[in-house]
Amino acid sequence: MTRARPSGTERGARRGAGGGGRRAKAAVGTGAPGRPAPEGRSPAAVSEVKGGSTSVEHRPLSSGGGVAGLTSNQTARAASGAEALGPPGALSPALERGGAFEALARALPPGAVVFADAKVLRLHPRVAAALVGHRVLRVRAGEALKSLGALEALAASLAGVPRSATFVALGGGTVGDAITVLAHLHKRGVRLLHVPTTMLAAVDSSIGGKGAVNVGGVKNALGVFHGAAETWLCPAFFDTLSEAQRREGRLEAWKMVVTLDEPTFRRWVRVPPSDAVLLRTARALKAAVVDADPYEARGVRVVLNFGHTFGHVLESVSGYRVRHGEAVGLGLLCALDVGVALGVTPAAVARQVEAALPNGPTARRRLAALTRRASVSRVRALLGADKKGGEGGLRMVLLQQPGRWCVMDVPEATWAPRWARGWRRD
Ligand SMILES: NC(=O)c1ccc[n+]([C@@H]2O[C@H](COP(=O)([O-])OP(=O)(O)OC[C@H]3O[C@@H](n4cnc5c(N)ncnc54)[C@H](O)[C@@H]3O)[C@@H](O)[C@H]2O)c1
Repeated sequence: MTRARPSGTERGARRGAGGGGRRAKAAVGTGAPGRPAPEGRSPAAVSEVKGGSTSVEHRPLSSGGGVAGLTSNQTARAASGAEALGPPGALSPALERGGAFEALARALPPGAVVFADAKVLRLHPRVAAALVGHRVLRVRAGEALKSLGALEALAASLAGVPRSATFVALGGGTVGDAITVLAHLHKRGVRLLHVPTTMLAAVDSSIGGKGAVNVGGVKNALGVFHGAAETWLCPAFFDTLSEAQRREGRLEAWKMVVTLDEPTFRRWVRVPPSDAVLLRTARALKAAVVDADPYEARGVRVVLNFGHTFGHVLESVSGYRVRHGEAVGLGLLCALDVGVALGVTPAAVARQVEAALPNGPTARRRLAALTRRASVSRVRALLGADKKGGEGGLRMVLLQQPGRWCVMDVPEATWAPRWARGWRRD
């Protein structure tokens, strides 16, 4: 059987991160061109400063397809080395290095402060050995780390650490998110380096510069943009992940391919990708999206929230016992159902995507069990507090076709009855 030619994104993915550093490569997707949202919202004018002059771009606010054409800024900025001119945390493509952590650690600047997931240090004893001579602060990963209290405790131990320091977030997405906020706030901003140790962090949270903490049970209620100067990809960390942890990363990667790269989606349906290909593909797709809309102001980056609206609600109602990746996987099912109910997602597409997602066979049952934990009014309150809510109500990213998406206001009459009856299929 011959294997179909990989798309631009996947070919980039196969090159891997080995050897010296390189800027995260922008993806070249081949999905359908962007179209206005079904409700016919008009294109928005977006001002953008380019090389000292101001130009106005016209681009649909609320829909998209593929990532074609989203790459020029990133390429230009990487080529010009403009990121070197920005302050710590400026959003520009991070330098990506790959290999053994022990080897990469030799390049850590003096005065680096490493915030390391204690579990990772335990599972990978060679990491601590490689960090001798550097300041290492052990942190306990989990949503509790993403809190103002945890940040305050860490900040209290940083007196005397100068603005010239580099903060290293070594761990999964919760370590990355919390330390991103800390790096943004410490002395008004220090250099940040990510060493993602979960698949989820590697495919998603270590790219794009977002950090956040939870407040009052609301996920990511306070957040910052603070880009990493470097990301180190060390595959040996992934050896100690459980199958469930790997699945969480895979789900975020599928989310990107489903919404942004139709040819790769079709290929992955036929031949499931290796984790290495999946990781590189997702990183390239996310980098291209972030580059097109670094501050989520142009209606492009919002696509990354596909599945997150109800994913965050499910995380919250479980008291964060359901982990982010799993909750997003279930949130994707909610988003598909809402899309079908509103006539945006063809039922056959929803079925195909649901079958392709690596949620596992009990996903619908887990979703039903979680809905029993919260009333519609609690969900309404959580949705209202979520940053992705529209001004007048709920606004969600929905799938039109693989590789084509839109943003729509979703009436309560669409989601509430579904939540109330355990989000069973119609
Ligand atoms: N900033 C962003 O753009 C962005 C994007 C997606 C997700 N997120 C955030 O990321 C978080 C979820 O990330 P996560 O799942 O990595 O969370 P996490 O950091 O809590 O890690 C999950 C678990 O894996 C363990 N772990 C870490 N590395 C390991 C290893 N190599 N081997 C074995 N166990 C290991 C951790 O100790 C923890 O128990 C959420 O808070 C989510 O909101 C942020």
